[in-house]
Amino acid sequence: MRQIKVGLIGFGTVGSGTAKVMVEQAERLKRKTGADIILKTVADLRTETLPDHLAGVALVKDAAALIGDPEIDVVVELIGGIEPARTFILDAIGAGKHVVTANKALISQHGKEIFEAAAVRNVEVGFEASVGGGIPVIKALKEGLAANRINTIMGIMNGTANYILHRMTNEGVGFAEVLRDAQELGFAEADPTYDIDGIDTAHKLVILMSMAYGINARLDEVSIEGISAIEPIDIEFAREFGYRIKLLAISVNHGDHVEARVHPAMVPEEHMLANISGAYNGIHFNGDMVGNVLFYGLGAGQVPTGSAVVADIVDISRNILHDSINRVPPLSYRPDELRPSAITPMEKISSPHYFRIPVKDRPGVLSKISGILAAHDISIESVIQKGRDDTGVVPVVIRTYEASDAAVGAAMAEIEALDACAGTIVKIRILANELSE
Ligand code: HSE
Repeated sequence: MRQIKVGLIGFGTVGSGTAKVMVEQAERLKRKTGADIILKTVADLRTETLPDHLAGVALVKDAAALIGDPEIDVVVELIGGIEPARTFILDAIGAGKHVVTANKALISQHGKEIFEAAAVRNVEVGFEASVGGGIPVIKALKEGLAANRINTIMGIMNGTANYILHRMTNEGVGFAEVLRDAQELGFAEADPTYDIDGIDTAHKLVILMSMAYGINARLDEVSIEGISAIEPIDIEFAREFGYRIKLLAISVNHGDHVEARVHPAMVPEEHMLANISGAYNGIHFNGDMVGNVLFYGLGAGQVPTGSAVVADIVDISRNILHDSINRVPPLSYRPDELRPSAITPMEKISSPHYFRIPVKDRPGVLSKISGILAAHDISIESVIQKGRDDTGVVPVVIRTYEASDAAVGAAMAEIEALDACAGTIVKIRILANELSE
């Protein structure tokens, strides 16, 4: 039986999960591929010994030794970050190895360079685990949804942020404590600000947009806002209005331009995405032929992400065996068919909004605020003002009808400049009706 030998760089959360899946599922993988898929070597700087279930697997410190091993067919990069991951991957491709990675930061920013290098050497690059952890969303875009023009992409793509918001909502637990738990559970990035500030979600959105629309989407074109300004009081108000706050990635395909944004949003509580809890991800596409499709599953964690990495190894093994390398282009569209992206400016995007404005509680303040909103053509749907406390500062909470980001930004600046405004305004978009169906 043909043997496919795998070298694994990085033995952290996902690396050890991948090794575990490979070993536990070895017989099943053999029955599915007709090949013996063997983990030959692990390279990791900090690991001194491998666990017992990996008896027979070599452990080295130097990734170059693994990349240079002529017996290894597939190099799996699971160290994350840009360097040295990029160099390892390019070196592996240069050595004629197929590559599998979970590295969304790298694929979203250096995918073009990596895919071009792989095309020259006729090797494959698998990156299923880069988006949605264990959810096979990359494969779905490449193959299952191939017959569609994708109209919208919308989803919860960061398990850590979702876990934090979920526990803040359901248990009223503070931000810092929940973040610590998420880190211990192995969901969070090495730098958890990537999770909280929406950067990890943006990496994933760039990958999905490139594949869905056949464009060269760029990270610097995505508008990114995280969840750190959200306080328990906003979660409470959202609940009163019938919403849950979620960190969403949203992209709408307008044909000659596409929206690309990551921000917290109030989602109607009956909406499917409002009910995705904990470290789960929910990724929704609308395709012109298929209609609405929702992918749901664990978006982070050791073994679920390992499941996605091993799925790529299986694909590559089958393609090696059937002499069909690069049967499916990495971004689904043929590389020469990828187009530059044109991104809708954020100022032009309209949504209903929630504002929490800290004000000094005195006569005339509300009329000044409503005057400013009216001057910017922002129509108020409802206003709540709760009783004052010792500080004399009260939150005025306003829900508006659809208003453009440009109008909202200008109005907020004017309101914050009022003498009666006692701090920074918290502004959260409410999911627009056309995206809520
Ligand atoms: N830090 C990521 C998350 C891991 O929390 O979703 C999966 O990409």
